[in-house]
Amino acid sequence: MITARVICVASGKGGTGKSITSTNLATVRAGKGERVLLVDFDAGLANAHLLLGLAPQYDLGHVMEGSVDPFDALVEGPNGLKLLSGGVGRHTLTNPTRRELERLFKSLRALEDAFDLIVIDHGAGLGYGTVAHLAATSTLLLVTSHEVTGLSDGYALYKRALSVNPYIRVGMLINRVPDSLAAESAWTRFRNASQKFLGSQPELLGHVPADHAVGRSVELRAPVVVSSPESEAAHAFRRLAEWPALDLARTASAFYERAQRALR
Ligand SMILES: Nc1ncnc2c1ncn2[C@@H]1O[C@H](COP(=O)(O)OP(=O)(O)O)[C@@H](O)[C@H]1O
Ligand SMILES: [Mg+2]
Repeated sequence: MITARVICVASGKGGTGKSITSTNLATVRAGKGERVLLVDFDAGLANAHLLLGLAPQYDLGHVMEGSVDPFDALVEGPNGLKLLSGGVGRHTLTNPTRRELERLFKSLRALEDAFDLIVIDHGAGLGYGTVAHLAATSTLLLVTSHEVTGLSDGYALYKRALSVNPYIRVGMLINRVPDSLAAESAWTRFRNASQKFLGSQPELLGHVPADHAVGRSVELRAPVVVSSPESEAAHAFRRLAEWPALDLARTASAFYERAQRALR
């Protein structure tokens, strides 16, 4: 059976635009007719449901506890995408044990057979849940800012990803940039450092401008590709959705089985 392609969206620090990127990417791909699942794996600070204007009854915490089947926790969003929400402030999800994560990944495995593309929106930082995802995935979308702090945290995440998964394909999106010059100089810095110290570099996927339409979309609780489809940010997210790796992001074995193994 052909299982879903899986893409992880992560960054070193919070607030770089992972959830904005994930929700827009998932919306665009769902609009192309793919069966898309967005998993909000931000432990404790889940907000994808807010960005999509959804009020899910159940979340990953319930699935991890085993009280709800993962399929029953899904809610439908723009263009028919499905969301598995992260849940807010639930102790089990903010501080899961390896055993709990193992159980969670085991129950999420069934979702892989029901979707074409799974986009996983990560929280900031490198908890072992996230590291297990990085070890299991074929494809990572790294979202950074153009600022030194964002870049250096992004670099740390990139380095960690390569160390747990030498064959991982990594694309880098520079979000919320004032102009393309800032994006270019950020990219030059990042590329030089990663070539020098790691001997490799991610693929540059371009940048998303700082755009008021994004702030408005948050207030409207609809992705910017829906609320302001002609905005610069919406154009940038549609270009991102053309990344060829999204069509190839398949692993030799099921993603959630690999993630389970990576926990050990
Ligand atoms: N390209 C952008 N232009 C303007 N504001 C943005 C942009 N990207 C993100 N933001 C703002 O930054 C906030 C944080 O983004 P979010 O995706 O939630 O970050 P993360 O998931 O990485 O913590 C959003 O609520 C939005 O207001
Ligand atoms: Mg987020």
